[in-house]
Amino acid sequence: MNLEEFCERFQTLQEQRPKTPILLDAGKQLMQELLRDPAWFVEFLRNYVAGPAFLADQPASVFDNEIRLYRSSDKSFILLAYLWDGGDLCAVHDHSAWGLIGPLLHPLREVKYRRLDDGQVDGYARLEQTSDLILQPGEVGIILPLDKGIYQTGAVDEPLTISLGVYGRSIRQGYIHFFDPPGKKVRRATTRLLFKKVLALRALASLEEVLGKRFLPSSLLESLPGDLVRDFRLPSTETSST
Ligand SMILES: [Fe+2]
Repeated sequence: MNLEEFCERFQTLQEQRPKTPILLDAGKQLMQELLRDPAWFVEFLRNYVAGPAFLADQPASVFDNEIRLYRSSDKSFILLAYLWDGGDLCAVHDHSAWGLIGPLLHPLREVKYRRLDDGQVDGYARLEQTSDLILQPGEVGIILPLDKGIYQTGAVDEPLTISLGVYGRSIRQGYIHFFDPPGKKVRRATTRLLFKKVLALRALASLEEVLGKRFLPSSLLESLPGDLVRDFRLPSTETSST
């Protein structure tokens, strides 16, 4: 199966609006077919990476090793590739959507966690490791959104590992969480570009407070994803109502 065929078949599957377990089961089979032969990915890299459109087309992302291969026009799913140097592991993180992941070249390590706390204490998270697997090329793992899909993936010991991930529509916009299991910590992770904006707005809010103002004008927050705006404005809104 090649990229176009996968995307068409996945789109058709989505349009049938199956329940999530059925979608993931059928999607897993499509992913397995896509991972069976990397010839299509060779063509993709040959035709795309060397050209001027490559970097210009790539969206900002949380992970530097991520390449977007496809996004459906109705935004119901995206297909991403991850390129791993030998031994690289990403941060332990959650997801804003369901996903299906699997290696295309060389095995992929997948370490899953369960969250034990209720998430009510800011910055605190207690995780328990539930599995530590090696997926072989062609094998597909399933991830679920938010606290049900906390994991860490990465290369084993090959010089370069390639994995693919297909992800559904996000139920949370603008950020994911990075976890530090030994330190029992959690923090928000956005794209680097968005992180700069959030930091700059936080700096502005802090300085405005020093100068006696109590909240940022909402016009300054308009370009942020809604989920970030809500949290960002909360302390200021509380302060302004007292
Ligand atoms: Fe992930």
